[in-house]
Amino acid sequence: MKRSLTRTEIVRLDKEHVWHPYTPVDRWEKTDPIVVARAEGSCLYEADGTRLLDGNSSWWVAALGHAHPRLVRVLREQAAALDHCALAGIAHEPASALAAELVRVAPRGLTRVFYTDNGSTSVEVAVKIALQTWQHLGATRKTRFVALNSAFHGDTLGASSLGGVEIFRRPFSSVLFECFRAPFPEPNAYEMAFDSMHRLIATEGDTIAAVVIEPLLQGAAGMRSYPAEYLSALRELTLKHDILLIADEVFTGYGRTSKMWACDHAGITPDILCLGKAFSSLIPMGATLVTDRIYDSFRGGPGDRALWYGHTFCGNPIGAALALEVLSIYEDEGVVDQAAAKAPRIKAAFERLGELPGVARARSLGMTGAADLEGASGYLGSAGWRVYDEARRRGAYLRPLGDTVYVCPPLVISDRELDELLEILHESVRAALRA
Ligand SMILES: Cc1ncc(COP(=O)(O)O)c(C=O)c1O
Repeated sequence: MKRSLTRTEIVRLDKEHVWHPYTPVDRWEKTDPIVVARAEGSCLYEADGTRLLDGNSSWWVAALGHAHPRLVRVLREQAAALDHCALAGIAHEPASALAAELVRVAPRGLTRVFYTDNGSTSVEVAVKIALQTWQHLGATRKTRFVALNSAFHGDTLGASSLGGVEIFRRPFSSVLFECFRAPFPEPNAYEMAFDSMHRLIATEGDTIAAVVIEPLLQGAAGMRSYPAEYLSALRELTLKHDILLIADEVFTGYGRTSKMWACDHAGITPDILCLGKAFSSLIPMGATLVTDRIYDSFRGGPGDRALWYGHTFCGNPIGAALALEVLSIYEDEGVVDQAAAKAPRIKAAFERLGELPGVARARSLGMTGAADLEGASGYLGSAGWRVYDEARRRGAYLRPLGDTVYVCPPLVISDRELDELLEILHESVRAALRA
């Protein structure tokens, strides 16, 4: 690929014109940014060859690492064969084959696949599907949603309405829909949290369309996990009260928690499953899986029962072919088992990190580990960013969630690279806390 801009020019044009996500404008203008030129395996590379271990799989996407040769090949071949066509009124092999494969590997009972553009829209359509399903089933009072405190489900308005991270919600609160908030099931108090959910559902159940959760592990909230017992009890409760359970596995899916699905830890099938990120691995795409009961409720009528919803790139052939190849790689390379075998290294490293003065609540689950820096002032804190700077100097990209530092590396990272990443994290935290 022809490159003609120097690093200085890239940064100048960026600062003149690019608006970065989740980035305060003033801070960005003062930053000397990482300028990535290429990525391979578990690493990002700057044009001068500087190597950075990708500590968060580039926002939790690159579970298979970067430039996996099989994905690159499929990308090329599919682009040449059929790059794009609308899914409205058209079927094509990648979309058909992927849907069948997803149904095969998903928790049993999810039989229909609606394709979307990313994680947010996979949740957005889940909200709409839930609302419309109850209209079709005659339970028209079921229009409200329950979400956990500090949940994150994406940035479209519907998904934001479910979100509980205050700083992300605040500017838009005037237009977000009201939603019931249930307490986060802290591992040592999940029974109390469940009681609270139980009371809510017992009193409001006939107006609730769905409970929406990130199963087992909240990502953007700061890598907070909760026991599988809560998840299985919640499934029972929602079944008893005929409330849909929407599992947002945009982050937790594809082996991040050492099982293919976080739902597998509790052996449950949600009514709706939302996928994104590692799902297609190279390009933006998402999917929302539902049960026959939901899909069948959309049958009949002169057309008014259809889901009048869709995105231009729904089922894009390149994305679908990639997502299909991702599943095939998972199977051929035993990715989930490989990841589960590496997870104890993260656990041990975070236990060690937790012994440092100034580090609190060190925790890990599967291929994630996180810790809060003491005196943490939340998402706007600066301690996490000091760790980021230290890590960058030492060769890792470790973007924090405020004052929560974490790792979420590619599942296929080598043991050697993983140990290197964890050592960089340790040293960076020590250095940042000394500063
Ligand atoms: C659990 C969860 N759901 C949804 C989303 C939104 O995904 P996207 O950024 O692809 O829209 C995210 C993104 O981080 C997420 O973590």
